[in-house]
Amino acid sequence: MKPTIVNSAQKKTEFCSALLQRMTLDEKVGQMVQSDLTWKQDLQQLLREGRIGSLLSVRDPLLINKYQHIAVDESRLGIPVLVGNDIIHGYRSIFPIPLALASSWDTQLIETVARASIAEALAAGTTWNFAPMVDISRDPRWGRIAESAGEDPYLNSQMARAWVEGYEGFSDADGRRVAACVKHYAAYGGAEAGKDYNTVDMSERRLREEYLPPYHAAVQAGVKTLMTSFNDLNGLPATANPFLLKQILRQEWGFDGVIISDYDSIGELIQHGFARDHKEAALRSVLAGVDIDMMGNAYHFHLAELVREGSVPESILDESVMRILGLKFELGLFEHPYLKEEAISGALMQPATLSLAEKAATESMVLLKNEAQLLPLTASAKKIALIGPLAEERASLMGCWSFNGRPAEVETLQEALQRNLPTGSQLITAPGCTIDGNDLDLAAVTSAANQADVIVLAIGERETMSGEAHSRAHLNLPGRQLELVRAVAASGKPVVGILFCGRPLAVPELVESVPALLLAWHGGTRAAQGVCEVLLGKVNPAGKLTATFPRSEGQIPVYYAHKRTGRPVESVGTIQFNEAHRSAYLDEKNEPLFPFGYGLSYTQFAYSDLQVETPRITAGGMLKVSAQIENTGSLTSREIVQLYIRDCVGVVTRPVKELKGFQKIELKPGEKRRVVFELPASSLAFLDAELHSIIEPGEFEVWIAPNSRDGLKGEFSVI
Ligand code: GLC
Repeated sequence: MKPTIVNSAQKKTEFCSALLQRMTLDEKVGQMVQSDLTWKQDLQQLLREGRIGSLLSVRDPLLINKYQHIAVDESRLGIPVLVGNDIIHGYRSIFPIPLALASSWDTQLIETVARASIAEALAAGTTWNFAPMVDISRDPRWGRIAESAGEDPYLNSQMARAWVEGYEGFSDADGRRVAACVKHYAAYGGAEAGKDYNTVDMSERRLREEYLPPYHAAVQAGVKTLMTSFNDLNGLPATANPFLLKQILRQEWGFDGVIISDYDSIGELIQHGFARDHKEAALRSVLAGVDIDMMGNAYHFHLAELVREGSVPESILDESVMRILGLKFELGLFEHPYLKEEAISGALMQPATLSLAEKAATESMVLLKNEAQLLPLTASAKKIALIGPLAEERASLMGCWSFNGRPAEVETLQEALQRNLPTGSQLITAPGCTIDGNDLDLAAVTSAANQADVIVLAIGERETMSGEAHSRAHLNLPGRQLELVRAVAASGKPVVGILFCGRPLAVPELVESVPALLLAWHGGTRAAQGVCEVLLGKVNPAGKLTATFPRSEGQIPVYYAHKRTGRPVESVGTIQFNEAHRSAYLDEKNEPLFPFGYGLSYTQFAYSDLQVETPRITAGGMLKVSAQIENTGSLTSREIVQLYIRDCVGVVTRPVKELKGFQKIELKPGEKRRVVFELPASSLAFLDAELHSIIEPGEFEVWIAPNSRDGLKGEFSVI
């Protein structure tokens, strides 16, 4: 039955105000408390008393309906609960990790993946999705880079918008929707030393110009909720930070959605040394503007008392509760609080969803090396040795944050290759070692290699080596995999490396040792099939990196949009003590292993004839620049054409390059296309020394490029 209430803002306000008037103080606090099943409270009784407003990580659909019936049928006001879960890259059908998906540079694909994920999750009872994670990530030691779109503010902002529109654009037959939740606000990816939860300290310039844009993009896309981050930022924990939550989020950006803490991050103010006890933690967070306490140790026990003693005006709670009730109203929860148990199985692991997962896996893969066009494998490769510890992995292929995925539903690379290889081929397998153990079976590896025409080497990380609280100080291949690589390389046979990982790795020796290397990331439920499609040439890889691969940990942070410095390494430097001093290392190159935007294809693309059609533009004008791209190879393929600019001289120092646009095009063999970019001069704005946004007259360089290192350069000026 269609909902009786028109979902208009006016109806919502009327409905929620009338409900608020009837609520007791304890019931208002209840809406501001979220708990999971580990909370040591009598959940059912608290639901009856209306003292829990939302649940977290309850995944059993039958249990969800049971708790919802208690909240709706057995409490005084019958307010339904929200059910929050982390659908980061799929619910039961797992898609590639977000860092992989970002490598597709395909916002339409991201939006489609988001909708497909939510269709499954909503059917199984999730009405609040704690995603997208849009934290700028420039430190691959940080395990949560896996959940991000990488290092660039512009690209991350495009991805943030696509995720939100996908997640919140879906509604089921009853009009039920899922709220998205942009996280982790703010600058969580700036954790010192890449160590999760570590302190973050940066200039307001860097915060505003580099780390905040993706959150802002999500707010502009209409995201309904936002999650504060665990970290302190410039001395103030984000979960009790009026500058972030009031000044920027509410006043500057006009965000009117719900703000939730991260998991007990209010209680963690005590560990930060920012609150003496839970009562003070509750006070500081509620006054800073946090609406909901995830894992309610502070609000549940102390918020009512703080109101009764006059420390917190009840009006603050009324504002929070109005936002929370309004959210439930917008999602259709009051009319349709329950999931339809009979509809679940028909929503999960559907063929269309799985073929989307396969497409997403292939579009996310990045061809890092392909000497002598070893790939795609041809019919001449009759005997294939599949070597390496990832060859028979299932859970690893799903990556972090894939709790509802089932390893049993994930095909191994060995199984997929066996199924895909043409008749007459022979597959010889030898894992050789475990992912991170101390074992190494060189005899078996050598035997397999000696029999083979070509070796497929499946190496990398398991799913638990990235994600939350899973940072790594060493970005090498775990365990004894590098010895395996050396043994395989010593065989003299052609080797195709397949790298499964959740982050950029510092693997220069691997890159040197193999003629072909395909970055498969943690590609989800259909990763293995996707790898076979690319290996056998059914899909031509087109992914490009959105996070720089370092040569070594010593280079970190290493990212393309760096500053030039007064002694850039490409200059002659400044002569002091009879030698040239430049910003460089004695024992490492400046260049990364692979730069932002980098990725190869089975075909080749020629960039020519850059035309700056507007060599002089005003602050209100439009830059128009174009170049010809030609597919000079023999295969149809997609190419991600990138637009970079450089502000040559500014009132503050400016990055050597900034991504300002991209277009993903498909060209047949021999096809040429003039790719045109039109960029409003407003895109060139930056913050001056007083942090005022300006568009400064001056000289600029512009590139149309295949990545952040190469490409065609032109000039223009703003007058
Ligand atoms: C976790 C994560 C956050 C997640 C939340 C609920 O600690 O930091 O990303 O959404 O708790 O699971």
